[in-house]
Formats: sequence, structure tokens, C-alpha cells
Amino acid sequence: MCGIVGYIGNVDAKEILLKGLEKLEYRGYDSAGIAVQTGNEISVFKEKGRIADLRAAVDSSVTANTGIGHTRWATHGVPSQENAHPHQSTSGRFTLVHNGVIENYDIIKREALQGVNFVSETDTEVIVQLIEKYVNEGQDVETAFRSMLKKLEGSYALALLDKENDETIFVAKNKSPLLVGLGEDFNVVASDAMAMLQVTDQYVELMDKEIVIVTKENVTIQTLNGETVERAPYTAEIDASDIEKGTYAHYMLKEIDEQPLVMRKIMQAYQNDAGTLTIDNDIVNAIDAADRLYIVACGTSYHAGLVGKQLIENMAKKPVEVHVASEFNYNMPLLSEKPLFIFISQSGETADSRACLVQVKEKGHKALTITNVAGSTLSREADYTLLLHAGPEIAVASTKAYTAQIAVLAILANVTAEKRGYNQSFDLAQELGIVANAIEALCDDKEEFEAIAREYLSTTRNAFFIGRAVDNYVGLEGALKLKEISYIQAEGFAGGELKHGTIALIEDGTPVIAIATQEKVNLSIRGNVKEVVARGANPCIISMKGLDTDEDRYVVPEVHPYFTPLVSVVPTQLIAYYAALHRDCDVDKPRNLAKSVTVE
Ligand code: F6R
Repeated sequence: MCGIVGYIGNVDAKEILLKGLEKLEYRGYDSAGIAVQTGNEISVFKEKGRIADLRAAVDSSVTANTGIGHTRWATHGVPSQENAHPHQSTSGRFTLVHNGVIENYDIIKREALQGVNFVSETDTEVIVQLIEKYVNEGQDVETAFRSMLKKLEGSYALALLDKENDETIFVAKNKSPLLVGLGEDFNVVASDAMAMLQVTDQYVELMDKEIVIVTKENVTIQTLNGETVERAPYTAEIDASDIEKGTYAHYMLKEIDEQPLVMRKIMQAYQNDAGTLTIDNDIVNAIDAADRLYIVACGTSYHAGLVGKQLIENMAKKPVEVHVASEFNYNMPLLSEKPLFIFISQSGETADSRACLVQVKEKGHKALTITNVAGSTLSREADYTLLLHAGPEIAVASTKAYTAQIAVLAILANVTAEKRGYNQSFDLAQELGIVANAIEALCDDKEEFEAIAREYLSTTRNAFFIGRAVDNYVGLEGALKLKEISYIQAEGFAGGELKHGTIALIEDGTPVIAIATQEKVNLSIRGNVKEVVARGANPCIISMKGLDTDEDRYVVPEVHPYFTPLVSVVPTQLIAYYAALHRDCDVDKPRNLAKSVTVE
């Protein structure tokens, strides 16, 4: 979702800002812009479309040592040049970029900004006009900035330039992510450390409702009431090569291929000196003390949570509920007496999940976040964090984070089970090693998945995924992956459920992908396949060695039945990838989607 960059220093800011915006492209956007400042001249360039379009529109003869930039994912107003950021106040004195949603923008417009001529449909323009109003009324800029922030309700990360002061970028955040990066004789602002890794790996986290005065020599953090806050920087431990595509055509394919490595990294990260997979005692004790676990997540992370429920209930015998964050937030179920909440989020920034975490903390409950991003909002605000160690996930469609989430949940389930006296008949490290080898074998068999995608999905309008038990959850994830990147209408169903309505949609040739890796439901899922075949469906059964029959289209290597989702999801990822390629879709940046969904 929207991204912000800013630079103040001694060299030309344009290229640093454009490169930074390119690094934020993965978050999803539909327009982009930069504003650069030399003395009291501010030049704004903005375009609908890609950063490449913006790059072409930037006047290369303009040089400036200060600037801000933005990628916009439309919320208020269509993607257009007028609605793209930066936005300027009527006199042109103030120039602003903003992420988030100002919930009371309409009220502010009506009550405080009557007579102002707005040139965009955005909520953002209200912010920059409000600062100008306060300055026109006699406040100095810093005071006006504070007065403006006190009026805002909602989420924001923002950076402001003042034409009459080329030595400062004014910055603030609430609920939306924003970092300040430190350098020698320069400082930067970024929604994500990745954007500015090109110039620094030293970052300072910002907390909600803090404001920051950034000059090229200093970064001053203050509370809204003006108290100075001291905070040490941290080193962003991201390898620059992790965020490059290398020889891959797409990040998604690179990230699918990285999954065996990620399995092994997770095992390393969670191993103690004796080579046993372990989890921090405080976390295991908190889980043990809870009478019920509530997993809260969105999208792919929610699907990983469904698998996690099975693992925890099967192994540790602890009841688990799994909830979609956007629903849980407004429709919380009756909670048990001693609940513990587990937030699963690749980015650690998802606004829907964060809103639930805030509510849960207000009620005084403990929360654990499982995330790929150390220092992310959900990590900082929970009591405990477990990291995924998957490396940056850039493709919008989540792949390696999903398998990493399940692997970490498996370790959590295993350690909790041991603590509760339920020892398993298998060695988890060994089983995850088998899983890693199986994923590797699937990644080596790409031609097969390319052929399946061509055969079943190159022209179809829709497709169904069916499975029973944990295979059903993999089907949900397979359908999400397919629809988000290939735009084929794909739905996942419990095998037995299709005949209760949706089977009416089956026509001659409708692709039905059935996952069959669970012995206890092997016969029944095959019965469901027969039902759809009898109505003309084109079945593609993905089964597991040991349970396979001649009718199966692909057989994945055998792994322990608890861990089949880690393996059976890989064919669905690769099939979705090739289906999107066959249909000429933008695999890494599907339309309308954002990587980090920072608005509710
Ligand atoms: C789908 C996908 C999304 C995310 C969802 C939650 O491929 O990536 O469904 O899983 O937006 O995001 P996180 O995990 O960052 O909270």
C-alpha cells in the first residue's frame, strides 16, 4: 500500500527518491510522485501509473538536495494525476505526502476549511490546507503542524516540505508505518527500511503520535505535546541481494524457490545448542496458561492460521479458534476466561490485524505476533514475537511467508505439546527436513506445473479447489493465489460442500483441482471428484505418494500427514504463477492489490 520516502542532505535528491520509490513498488500502488526543493523553489512531479512513467516525467535539469516522494494506492478518489501525491496548499507554500486514511476529513473540510478550493478528491489535501490555514492565522510552522495533527482522526504517516525553510522535513505518524534513516550529513524518511537501504542501514523507529523534525544533521523526535524523546537507532539487517530478483523473471518465482532454504533457516533459528527445536519459555508458558488460543489474521496468513489450528490442536491438545481480522475487529466472539491471541502477519503492518491487537491489549489480554518483519508495528505492540526468517517477501502474492508461518506454528505446537506432556511419535526437525527436500523436488519439476496451468487454466473463466480436512485449507490458499494473480475466478471449498449449491456452476470443462493428501478422507474426496466429473468438470487431482491412484494428475512426495500443507501448497503456487504468465498478467504486481495493507 502507499509508500513514503524523503531525503535531506548534500546530493541531488531526485535519484535517491525515485530509487526508493522503486523499492516500495512491491507494496502496490497506482500513481506516484516526488517533490524536490532548492531554496524556496519546490518542483512537483506526479503521474498515474508506474514509477517508470514518473521517472520519464521528472525534469532532469532540476537539482535539489531535499525532497519527498510517494506511491499512492487509491482510497479517496480514483488513481489520477490530480489525486497523486504530493499535494500542495493553495499558496503553494506547503507540500505533503501522506499514507493512511483521515477519517474526519469531511468534517474538517466543512468546519475548518470552508471556501478553500480543493483540487483533488483525497483526504490528504485537507491536511496540507489545514497547516496553511493555521500559519495564515499566525502560528509558526511547527505549532501549525502540531495543531493540525491534534485535529486528525485516523491513520497517517506524513512528510511535509515548507517553501520558506529548505532545511527541514516535518514528519509524523499514527498507525501507519514510518521510519527515519540516519546518515553522515544526510537523513532520510521511509515507510520501509528497504526503500533507503541504498544510502543507510541505520534506522530509528517512530511511535504513534510522535512528530519528527528532520534536518540533514539532526533528527529530533517529540511527542505531540512537545516533550523530546531519545531513541537509539537499530541496524536494518536486510541483505541488499535479498531484495533483488537476480536471474529470476519474477520475485514470486524466486520466493517460491526459496522455500526449502527458508525451512532450513527456520530450523537453524529455532534450534538450541543441543540441536532441539525450541521456543522462548515465556511464550510457551503463556500458551500453556491460556485456556483457548485465538489466531487472528488476514488473507494468506489467515489460511496459514487454519493449518496452525490443526497442528496445535492435534499436537498440543489446546483449543484454537481462527478469525479473519477485519471481522473479529467489529464482531468479536465471546472470549474464553484465559485467552491468548496469536497474530499472524507477514508484514506486521496489516491495519485490520493491528486494530484487533489494539482492542485485545485494551482488554488486558496477552498477544503473540508471528511475523516476517522484526520491529514491525504488530511485533512492537504484542507481548511476544516469533520471527519467520523468510527474508523480504516482495511479490504481492505471498508464498514463502505462508510456508514459513506454518513451519513456525509447527514448532510452536511441538514445543507446547512437549510442555504439556504430549510427546509426538516423530522428530519435528527430521520431518521438516523431509518437507524441505520435498519442496525442492517440486520446485525442480516446474515444467509439469507449467503444463498443468496451460492445460487447465489458460482460457477458463473460473476454477474450483476442493479438499477435505487440512487439504481444504490448502485449497482455500490455492484459490486465493490463483485469483489474485491470474484474475481467474477461483474458489476453494470443503470437498463435501460443493454439492450443497456451488456444483450448479460446474459446466463442461470447468477445472476442479482436488487436493488429496489425507488418508482418513482419501476415499471421500475422490468421491467428491466423481460427483463433479459426472457434471462435466475437468479434474486435476494432486495427491501424495502412498495415497495416489492412476487418475491423479500430480503426486507430491510423501511427508508426515500433519505437514502436508507445506508441500501440497507448492503445486498450487506454481500453477497460479504459470496461469498468470499464460494470461499475460503482471505476476508480481497484480491489479488493485497492495503488499502491505495499511488501511482498514
Ligand atoms: C495474498 C496475500 C494477502 C496477505 C494479507 C495479510 O497472497 O499476500 O492475502 O496474506 O494481506 O497480510 P499480512 O500477512 O502482511 O498481514
